[in-house]
Amino acid sequence: MFKESFKYYKSKKPPPVLDDVIDFHQIEDVDSSLYRKKEKLESVDCIHGLIPANEWEIYEIEANPGLIYIKNPFTTAGQNYWSVRCLRDFTKKPNKLNIDAHNLLPTGVDWWDYCEKDDSVLKKLRWATLGYHHDWDTKVYNEESKNEFPGDLNELCCSICNQLNFKKFNAEAAIINFYHLDSTLSGHTDHSEQNLEAPLLSFSFGSSAIFLLGGQTLDVKPTALMIRSGDVIIMSRDSRLSYHGVPRILEPSVVTWEDSYDRYSNYLKNNRINMNVRQVLNRSEKRLIN
Ligand code: OGA
Ligand code: MN
Repeated sequence: MFKESFKYYKSKKPPPVLDDVIDFHQIEDVDSSLYRKKEKLESVDCIHGLIPANEWEIYEIEANPGLIYIKNPFTTAGQNYWSVRCLRDFTKKPNKLNIDAHNLLPTGVDWWDYCEKDDSVLKKLRWATLGYHHDWDTKVYNEESKNEFPGDLNELCCSICNQLNFKKFNAEAAIINFYHLDSTLSGHTDHSEQNLEAPLLSFSFGSSAIFLLGGQTLDVKPTALMIRSGDVIIMSRDSRLSYHGVPRILEPSVVTWEDSYDRYSNYLKNNRINMNVRQVLNRSEKRLIN
């Protein structure tokens, strides 16, 4: 069921009909048999580019308990800040990039700087890993392959987790995914973390995407969600180990940007950035058990 849906939404000819895709930016009713809007929060806390918590619009989906969707809680400046962090900063050493093995960059030159002169390298970047580096082959984290996790990104995640009553979250690993209009991410579960109770937080900037969330086996028909710039998805409890994937990035959308002609806004028009953040260790643990 998951694979059939994935293929359907990925298809270019014919393109999929999007009637069954839940788009919280375009719904008429705040409640339906498919989803439920949560009570507004009370807190007016406002950090790291987020609007005050009591203004967040939060939804849960009936078919996917544990999945929490927050409709873009970022200010425009906040979205700009995090997009710049992803493109300019999180792509710097010592973080790992998929292009490291290809020797595309002269020694000591950062990807984002280099792209200003040589556009051909721009499309080659697909991911960067931070903190405990995700190993794409073994899917096993390693104490020897780890760098300091960015403090601001940990604070962003902690403050969202606090608001949603997931106490004592600590961000320890992140994948920054860079999608072009023809990129997909096939169905998978994220189960490499020692701590599978802590929620997984996923932030999107730039082009919209179709996100599929199924169940713990591939036999469950997935829910299709439209994810737009600024949206936050939290996979917790029953959804933490569910199959999910991104079969389609949508055509360029209008991105609000403070200075509409710079390289960042251009990138966001034609690409999607996803910050996918995990806690790896259990609360009492200081390091991995291998
Ligand atoms: C991942 C992931 C989803 C997305 O990086 O594991 O599931 O929305 N990303 O890009
Ligand atoms: Mn994933």
